Amino acid sequence: MALVIRPMTITDFDAVRALWASCEGVGLNDADRPEVLRSYLDRNPGMSFVVQADNAIVGAVLCGHDGRRGYLNHLAVSPAYRHRGLARDLVDNCLTALQKAGIGKCHLFIFSSNQDGRNFWRKIGWELREDLAVASRILAPE
Ligand SMILES: CC(C)(COP(=O)(O)OP(=O)(O)OC[C@H]1O[C@@H](n2cnc3c(N)ncnc32)[C@H](O)[C@@H]1OP(=O)(O)O)[C@@H](O)C(=O)NCCC(=O)NCCS
Repeated sequence: MALVIRPMTITDFDAVRALWASCEGVGLNDADRPEVLRSYLDRNPGMSFVVQADNAIVGAVLCGHDGRRGYLNHLAVSPAYRHRGLARDLVDNCLTALQKAGIGKCHLFIFSSNQDGRNFWRKIGWELREDLAVASRILAPE
């Protein structure tokens, strides 16, 4: 079966959302609505990728930047397709796109409890920062 990595489009939303929902370690929330994904992809064209296997999406990652730093979100590979290098290839595609956009550093968020995910990122050469914490605040709609 041919596996192809290609840029994500908004038409992938249903399949990608279903993949994320089926993968432990991916936290979904109100920012994972189709109109938000459309906006994200429009703001960061050609930076988010999927793995296409015949008629199914078996891997996905969101990538974007703010003009200063790059960010990865929601990296996931379907369990049946893991340990074939697909996640590494997805990440490499993102980092290449960021480099082409002149971005010199990329960050990601990961749940502290996601030990498998943390091991994966370490394995592919990422530094898990002990010197940073995340702070968040919800904004009321205008
Ligand atoms: C983490 C995840 C994306 C890895 O996908 P994958 O396609 O199996 O990863 P790869 O095959 O590209 O692995 C790349 C390397 O990491 C290693 N690796 C993969 N998963 C690992 C794990 N849980 N622990 C340690 N190493 C791991 C692989 O063995 C491989 O090493 P190698 O090149 O020496 O063989 C996948 O397990 C997943 O979707 N997990 C659930 C969602 C999640 O937690 N995402 C991260 C959120 S930030």
